[in-house]
Amino acid sequence: MSDVASRSNAPLFHHWMPFTANRQFQESPRIIARAEGIYYWNTKGDRLLDGISGLYTTPAGHGRKEIRDAVARQVEELDYAPAFQFGVPESFRLAHELAQMLPESLNRVFFAGSGSEAVETALKIAVQYHRVRGQGQRQRFVGRARAYHGVNFAGWSVGGMVKNREAFGLGLPGVSHMRHTLVPENKFIMGQGEHCGIDLANDLQRIIDLHGADTIAACIVEPIAGSTGVLVPPKGYLEHLRTICDRHGILLIFDEVICGFGRTGHPFAANAFGVTPDLLTMAKAITNGSVPMAAVAVREDVQQAIFDVAEPDTIEFFHGYTYSAHPVACAAALATLKMYRDHDMFALGAALAPSFLERIASMRDMPAVIDTRGFGLLGAVDLAPGEKPGIRGFMVLQRCFEQGLVLRVTGDTIIFAPMFITQIDDLDRMFKLLRSVLKTV
Ligand SMILES: Cc1ncc(COP(=O)(O)O)c(C=O)c1O
Repeated sequence: MSDVASRSNAPLFHHWMPFTANRQFQESPRIIARAEGIYYWNTKGDRLLDGISGLYTTPAGHGRKEIRDAVARQVEELDYAPAFQFGVPESFRLAHELAQMLPESLNRVFFAGSGSEAVETALKIAVQYHRVRGQGQRQRFVGRARAYHGVNFAGWSVGGMVKNREAFGLGLPGVSHMRHTLVPENKFIMGQGEHCGIDLANDLQRIIDLHGADTIAACIVEPIAGSTGVLVPPKGYLEHLRTICDRHGILLIFDEVICGFGRTGHPFAANAFGVTPDLLTMAKAITNGSVPMAAVAVREDVQQAIFDVAEPDTIEFFHGYTYSAHPVACAAALATLKMYRDHDMFALGAALAPSFLERIASMRDMPAVIDTRGFGLLGAVDLAPGEKPGIRGFMVLQRCFEQGLVLRVTGDTIIFAPMFITQIDDLDRMFKLLRSVLKTV
């Protein structure tokens, strides 16, 4: 471990860290130096359990040899080629494989480098789609309170996280927000709640009634809102959104950056809930977190509408990233998808989910706990706020780290997203540790 320790000798202040209390971090750093399977190691060589699969990125466990080998081979064979007007073999194979996995109608794939970029891409496709069909006035978007769609301007505008919005001004014009789906009637329920699904989805109808359907391009939702604490859609909610969108010619976008690739026990949340969107964003677990990559899956006829109006030899969509379909990311993703198939990983996750959700539900008996919820391998425990919101949650994060568990905290909500390879006794160790920490906050 001495080698690992020596890697942390640089001053900490040059790196401005994302979504981090930088000054607090510099006082009390939480540096992760190595990972393998379900474990991390800190710079002192202490082992920590990973309760959040990286950042929902790494469901198959850290350091998978299949991916390491594929990445090494790809860097040797072709490290990079221009993404515009040229192609690499791996991207076509990957798009083909994704099209086989996705709901049938979503068989065109546009690649990006991050979830935020995928969201921007999806929103732009939606606007262009309407424009080429003579409905250029459809420029509004409908998002939702407590949604997270990344940090770019359109993404945070359709998102609904107050802190992610307040410092940055007005954002995109013409965005309306539905209410979020966390309602007291569904408290302490694992899986989908029975209550309020239709009423909450009718927020979309209310927005349509106010602004006119013919001004709205798309409605974007995370099927399960991940980052604000695992908000599971109540029964009927997604189905009703689908119905309203169909009725009014509005595109429905599922942001599956967290939900995709087995997190719900199915390939995508669209499969889990039996509702197919018109566009679907994905990222994170597409490469098991090993290399940044994201994608948007699009209905074939949406792409076709955009292609139809452009002259045959011209660019149809003036959009893309230097690292769209980066060959190394494609190689990592191909190896990841093969690994998911070869080890039947989504079934492993699905088999673990009931035991996991049972343990999340069991936290109800702890004094500070005011709600528990979950779906598949996503679970959340809400704590009563202390003197100031977020302090208690942060204490949990810090103390769990000190005692050997990495999890995610948002405000006073603790989020678990264990790996599909986690064993029952690993879960028991995680929850035992959390219990002992909760007694101290
Ligand atoms: C649903 C959702 N959309 C978009 C993003 C943004 O992804 P990225 O951080 O890769 O830009 C995230 C990140 O957690 C997410 O959860």
